[in-house]
Amino acid sequence: MRLGVNIDHVATLRQARRGKYPDPVAAAALAELGGADQITLHVREDRRHVNDRDLEILRKTVNGTLNLEMAAVQPMLDLALHHRPDTATLVPERREELTTEGGLDVGSHRDEIKRVTRGLRDAGVEVSLFVDPEVEQIKASHRVDAQAVELHTGRYCEARTNKDRARELARIIEASKAAARLGLRVAAGHGLDYWNVQPVAGIDEITELNIGYAIICRAVLTGIERAVRDMKDLIK
Ligand code: PXP
Repeated sequence: MRLGVNIDHVATLRQARRGKYPDPVAAAALAELGGADQITLHVREDRRHVNDRDLEILRKTVNGTLNLEMAAVQPMLDLALHHRPDTATLVPERREELTTEGGLDVGSHRDEIKRVTRGLRDAGVEVSLFVDPEVEQIKASHRVDAQAVELHTGRYCEARTNKDRARELARIIEASKAAARLGLRVAAGHGLDYWNVQPVAGIDEITELNIGYAIICRAVLTGIERAVRDMKDLIK
């Protein structure tokens, strides 16, 4: 199972002061030292966290694969063609949302998604579509020539009862199998954490998980003791 670490949340912290740190580029290097197989970043149209400078440096410094999450629009296609990530994951994007809220509705945006997919593939960038775990979305992804899908695990992660969680997991399993049957590479992500990840990691067809928030949150807590000690040493 490959792990993609999403470093957007480090950039969110940097943007809180519009300063230089914490630098998502440094976070990506450390994530790779920790075993991340992929660095994932979402350059939003409003550049609210990760920006063009981050993408430019990460393209040069990441040793594993670089996965750019982007909206299926011309300016983002231009950006991707300029920087050439290994994979582009097309995601829906709304300005007012806190984070990506749902998967792409591939059928309703078929022409635009197909056009952007073609442009990326022609440049050698693998295309993945972030979709809800629904067989219809998987079939539509295949029809627009995507090479991979990333299944949205948000509803599974938010399920409050065992019954709901089991039902959402079954949807992810069914969608994974449908995608694999069509020859699509299968990734999953959104909301995965240290308590809910294992049943998803156990699905044979899924070969990659993209996880951000839970890892960065844990890093804040596991790193606090050392950070305070370093400051105490300085001011002693
Ligand atoms: N995959 C996609 C497509 C996403 O948009 C996100 C959130 O940025 C993630 C994975 C990671 O989600 P989380 O930060 O909740 O782990």
